[in-house]
Amino acid sequence: MIGKLNHVAIAVPDLEAATKLYRDTLGAKVSAPVPQPAHGVTVVFVELPNTKVELLHPLGEKSPIAAFLEKNATGGIHHICYEVEDILAARDKLKAEGARVLGDGEPKIGAHDKPVLFLHPKDFCGTLVELEQA
Ligand code: CO
Repeated sequence: MIGKLNHVAIAVPDLEAATKLYRDTLGAKVSAPVPQPAHGVTVVFVELPNTKVELLHPLGEKSPIAAFLEKNATGGIHHICYEVEDILAARDKLKAEGARVLGDGEPKIGAHDKPVLFLHPKDFCGTLVELEQA
């Protein structure tokens, strides 16, 4: 059911330092910071040949990654995103298998203007999973 790894999202306390690390130390192609107020984050996209890494930094008062960074002061992997062809079919299958879909269970428009859902980390090996309709 799941397809390509769309991205790995890493929450970082210092976006400039993280960008420098990926650009200068790791030699990756990185974007300029992209503020996404609707999602409560500023994102730097790291383009890799086969996938993306997204460096997430809190934006605004109610950032969904603020609590994560309080618990993980140096940053850490926040979620991974897999592509699916049909997000509603994927959701229904996962719910039937007993997995918990976060929020009201309805897909939201995500950071790439495509429908996304998040799955409970306790049901997926301790990893917050984002599904994106490709
Ligand atoms: Co994501």
